[in-house]
Amino acid sequence: MNHASDILSLWARKGALTYDGEGISQLEHAWQCGQLALQAGATPALQLASWLHDIGHLMTDLPGSPTLHGIDDRHENLGAQALLPLWGAAVAEPVRLHVQAKRYMVAARPGYADKLSVDSVRSLALQGGPMSSEECRAFAALPFALEAQQLRAWDDSGKRVGWFAADADAALAELQALMALVSSRAQAG
Ligand SMILES: [Fe+2]
Ligand SMILES: [Fe+2]
Repeated sequence: MNHASDILSLWARKGALTYDGEGISQLEHAWQCGQLALQAGATPALQLASWLHDIGHLMTDLPGSPTLHGIDDRHENLGAQALLPLWGAAVAEPVRLHVQAKRYMVAARPGYADKLSVDSVRSLALQGGPMSSEECRAFAALPFALEAQQLRAWDDSGKRVGWFAADADAALAELQALMALVSSRAQAG
């Protein structure tokens, strides 16, 4: 996956797949996370990371909710590896850290675990459970730890049935525009 166009075609081919056990599609979840980031005033890079945080799920051929089968697909690493050469660490790192952010937030924020969905709680166990205090300290010191937590909060909220762009084409057009914006900023900077 060397080009932004490969990412778009991956979404066009596989975006209709179910997101975890949540009753919405991967594309709906991705779009909602991008919208929540936009509404929160996130940078274009973090908006794009929010949009693409689960792209690793589309890069494997595991069925809808791998955690149901006791499988951790390590989608955060797959996704980050694909995104790093295209848009750099500001997009790739929050994606790579979004699963660790959940482990961190469960340990560090009282009440956070209560808000997680059933599938998210199930995958937490597979992903290593809450962080120890030592792990929390190490995580909090990482570059993009804050962005990863923001992304994580949008990830947790972006599971609303019935909230979507006009259609898949409209959503992908928004994604394409955002990718172009982040690319142009990366070149300018
Ligand atoms: Fe994820
Ligand atoms: Fe997600």
